[in-house]
Amino acid sequence: VTTDPTPVAAFLSACRQRVDRALDHCLPADSLHPAMLHAAMRYAILGGGKRIRPALVYAAGQAAGAVDAALDAPACAVELIHGYSLVHDDLPCMDDDDLRRGRPTLHKQYDEATATLAGDALQALAFQVLADARGVLPPQRRLAMIELLAQASGSRGMVGGQTIDLGAVGKQLDIAELEDMHIHKTGALIRAGVLLGAMCKPDTDAAIITALGHYAACIGLAYQIHDDILDVEGDTAQIGKISGADAQRMKPTYPELLGLNGARERARELVNEAHLTLAMFGACADALRQLCDYTILRRR
Ligand code: IPE
Ligand code: IPE
Ligand code: MG
Ligand code: MG
Ligand code: MG
Repeated sequence: VTTDPTPVAAFLSACRQRVDRALDHCLPADSLHPAMLHAAMRYAILGGGKRIRPALVYAAGQAAGAVDAALDAPACAVELIHGYSLVHDDLPCMDDDDLRRGRPTLHKQYDEATATLAGDALQALAFQVLADARGVLPPQRRLAMIELLAQASGSRGMVGGQTIDLGAVGKQLDIAELEDMHIHKTGALIRAGVLLGAMCKPDTDAAIITALGHYAACIGLAYQIHDDILDVEGDTAQIGKISGADAQRMKPTYPELLGLNGARERARELVNEAHLTLAMFGACADALRQLCDYTILRRR
């Protein structure tokens, strides 16, 4: 068998190994009291997931010239928030899904109360990890990063987007409303990953932050459009979650509003725009360029 991984596959695999080690280290041992809660937190986070948000932390750090050792804390923090968001997203009171990353969802493997509490604890742990990054980041920088992640996670970010999503079930949204929902529920954390990586350079140029912020906004929206597409055209084994769930639950999506080709075109436009925003960078942004294409080429 010849394995000839594309550059993005090699980059993602290296990021996955690096962040998985760091996550394993920051998650409490499952022997620690209360053991079931800690086992549930580990189940939710370890053993699956593409780790795209950590990869964006590392890639943006590379582009901005960040201190490499500082990147693990934000990479873990954003993945912990993402993992918690998936646990809650799957609960019966939200999307009511039974399969995640090819395994039973957390509330199926344990129970609803444990899944709710594990999600809560993962969220708290994300901020603890950032606060604890003492040796590698100055206090002011850690505080700014905690603030950024809090904004991206909360009522004006991911949770706000999830609220809009639940309110939209069975309704017809127009394109602007759908974009607003996707930008918040998924785009906010993707943007946070990119900006947190760049903030690991203590004196980041404002122009770099602006360019990376725009890059992130484009791929964040494209990422959720492609998630909607995969829900239609992917199969359950391939995507690791039950396909066709959006239509079954009457969720407004890009393919529903624009058709599959229209949705693909919109995602492609966004990726092209993201590439343009990277024009000011040299080879240091190549990983960001690869991740940009991966957003809409991925098959899961
Ligand atoms: C799924 O995210 C939910 C969205 C916000 C689109 P991912 O597709 O990144 O899921 P994992 O982490 O790889 O499982
Ligand atoms: C998820 O959107 C957004 C989150 C903030 C978790 P979806 O509900 O489409 O994600 P999947 O398809 O269940 O992964
Ligand atoms: Mg959802
Ligand atoms: Mg869902
Ligand atoms: Mg989905």
